[in-house]
Amino acid sequence: MILLTGGAGYIGSHMLFELLTANYEVVVLDNLCNSNMTAINRVQQMTGKACHFVEGDIRDAGCLTDLFNQYAIDAVLHFAGLKSVGESVAQPLRYFDNNITGSLVLLKAMQSAQVKRIVFSSSATVYGDPAELPITESTPTSMPTNPYGYTKLAVEQMMMQLVDSDPSWSVAALRYFNPVGAHSSGQIGEDPKGIPNNLLPYIAQVAVGRLQQLSVFGADYNTPDGTGVRDYIHVVDLVKGHLAALTYITANLGYHIWNLGTGEGYSVLDMVRAFEKANNIDIPYKLEPRRAGDIAACYADPNKAIAELNWQAELGLEQMMADTWHWQRTNPHGYS
Ligand code: NAD
Ligand code: UFG
Repeated sequence: MILLTGGAGYIGSHMLFELLTANYEVVVLDNLCNSNMTAINRVQQMTGKACHFVEGDIRDAGCLTDLFNQYAIDAVLHFAGLKSVGESVAQPLRYFDNNITGSLVLLKAMQSAQVKRIVFSSSATVYGDPAELPITESTPTSMPTNPYGYTKLAVEQMMMQLVDSDPSWSVAALRYFNPVGAHSSGQIGEDPKGIPNNLLPYIAQVAVGRLQQLSVFGADYNTPDGTGVRDYIHVVDLVKGHLAALTYITANLGYHIWNLGTGEGYSVLDMVRAFEKANNIDIPYKLEPRRAGDIAACYADPNKAIAELNWQAELGLEQMMADTWHWQRTNPHGYS
């Protein structure tokens, strides 16, 4: 049985779909602070399979003890966390508590239950403004410029030292690049609260008429067209990488890091054009000054995951754009 924390969220709900499809037994733990039970219900309908659901908080030690007593958990896929960079700057203590304390409470509960396999949702943000491109797993991490990034690095380092102290643990830190897209059914997808911070949800809400135009943050970067370059990865590819990582850490104990990206960098204007082309919709935009804290370019070297996990992203930009639009068009107001 797999414990999936944060399984009602954007990426977690796609993970739940893959797990149920692959016949894993799953218990989801989520406090629904940034998600909706509808996502879980839809995944159960889509797969024709049921999961267990516990509404609870990863910081609640009693809840975790009960959960590990009730279910025979073999491994944990740990997605639960707060993820807004801007919000973390305004509320750092809330982010430290939720993401760092929450992960610590979870690890302690795992140790008590003798469950020592965990796959963690980390982020390319741990590389800061990267010292080299493409980014390999040996590219040095740097002190993150925001509290959210700090929580990811802190949890990675806690887990690394845990493995050092007890080699019977097996840990995967998966450093995501920019997850986008949605399941091709249009049944589950990203449903940000309020005005989206991230590029693709913003474009999708312009397309559906909820927002008027996109602000392109910065056209004077040292990139081919001056706008920021990122490595966008389809969420379905991303979650498949987790299954490969889970298999790997079961056979090879230790602390492992993998970049989950495609290796391709696309600019903001590339993304606008790709969305327009795939969906035949105009996206009005305006060039604006840079957004504080943004870097010029960030894309992965995906070769370690290809070699060790036998996993590689397969879905291209056109699919990412078509699936984003399918989800947004059929759910113009998300799950609400
Ligand atoms: P999301 O907000 O959609 O999902 C996170 C889920 O965790 C939500 O369902 C939320 O209710 C739950 N949660 C949060 N705090 C909790 C707590 N204390 N106890 C129980 N449940 C809690 O976010 P997402 O985009 O699906 O991200 C999943 C993970 O991937 C996060 O850890 C995030 O930091 C990481 N990540 C996301 C991105 C991205 O761009 N989406 C990039 C890199 C890493
Ligand atoms: N952008 C715009 N307009 C917008 C939103 C974004 O021009 O309205 C630009 C940004 O300036 C950047 C690019 O689009 O150049 C991508 O921005 P996102 O906000 O979508 O993503 P980021 O790369 O800034 O950050 C994401 C996640 C972080 C994670 C990071 C690295 O949001 O949580 O990737 O994995 F840390």
